[in-house]
Amino acid sequence: MHIQSLGYIGVAAQGLDDWAHFGTRFLGMQAVDRTSRRLALRMDDRKQRVIVEDAGRNGLGYIGWETADQAALDALAAGLERQGVAVLRGDRALADERSVADVIRFQDPLGNQLEAFWGAEITTAAFKPGRSISGFRTGPLGMGHTVLHVENVDALVPFYRDVLGFHTSDWMLKPFKAHFFHVNPRQHSLALIETGRKGLHHFMVELYSLDDVGQGFDIANGMDNKLLLTMGRHTNDHMTSFYTKTPSDFGVEYGWGGRLLDVPKHVPEEMTHGPSMWGHELVNADPEMRAKRRQARIDAAESGLRQPVHVLEGNYQLAAGICPWWDQASGKAK
Ligand SMILES: [Fe+2]
Repeated sequence: MHIQSLGYIGVAAQGLDDWAHFGTRFLGMQAVDRTSRRLALRMDDRKQRVIVEDAGRNGLGYIGWETADQAALDALAAGLERQGVAVLRGDRALADERSVADVIRFQDPLGNQLEAFWGAEITTAAFKPGRSISGFRTGPLGMGHTVLHVENVDALVPFYRDVLGFHTSDWMLKPFKAHFFHVNPRQHSLALIETGRKGLHHFMVELYSLDDVGQGFDIANGMDNKLLLTMGRHTNDHMTSFYTKTPSDFGVEYGWGGRLLDVPKHVPEEMTHGPSMWGHELVNADPEMRAKRRQARIDAAESGLRQPVHVLEGNYQLAAGICPWWDQASGKAK
């Protein structure tokens, strides 16, 4: 497979002021390169990760998928063309705008604008978060994940799996249909959810500290009508997260503690407990779907569904002492 991570996201917006505030004071990204038409946001050592363009509309601009080098990008382009996908070679001006060595553009069958690139520009200046956060978990896992609305999941899976080479992580049939793909150990870098709509449903960024997410939740609760889903934990990537609406109307998931797949050994399977183990209560949503999703979580809880937390060296402390109850519950008791 030539694609190895989610590299960047282009966002279409109506004006940039709301994004400048939302991207820095809530998400904690660093605003760089603001012009009258374009705002670039930084998350790590890359020059930019989120590029917001004043396009006179709200929604997805483009999704940028990263390849290793020129040979991988050329092979991806050739493979797409062999399968009848029109590929536009980016010129020097476009590559400069994306801060990459080379870029191609193409569309998925629903017309979502995709790009692939290699050679992202690195910045040596220290990342300065827009609010006090520990930082974003990116690197080889990419900048997070994207989730697309689709009218029919089954119709789009072949493009991402067979043409682009994404690997299925798992899929879900109820309370709604969804399909999750990985391109590296991040449990999913892309998902398709069957909502009957088109466009970007949300993108996810992962923080190093659980407290970054909890403190973000407090900020989100103070933003009028922004909260989409309360704090909760996902069944498949074990992410503890909440969702808010961005100024471009789609959502953003703000998360911590995502699990990694052992990619060579991973066996895709159906998720039977819905998207969340607990929480993620839908705010201002269709009461029927809200009730369905809540029941799925109650069923998951009654079945005893629990997962370990995934911590990084340096952000946990083992609890001291011996607890007979925990030794029983975790199977350590002899
Ligand atoms: Fe997500």
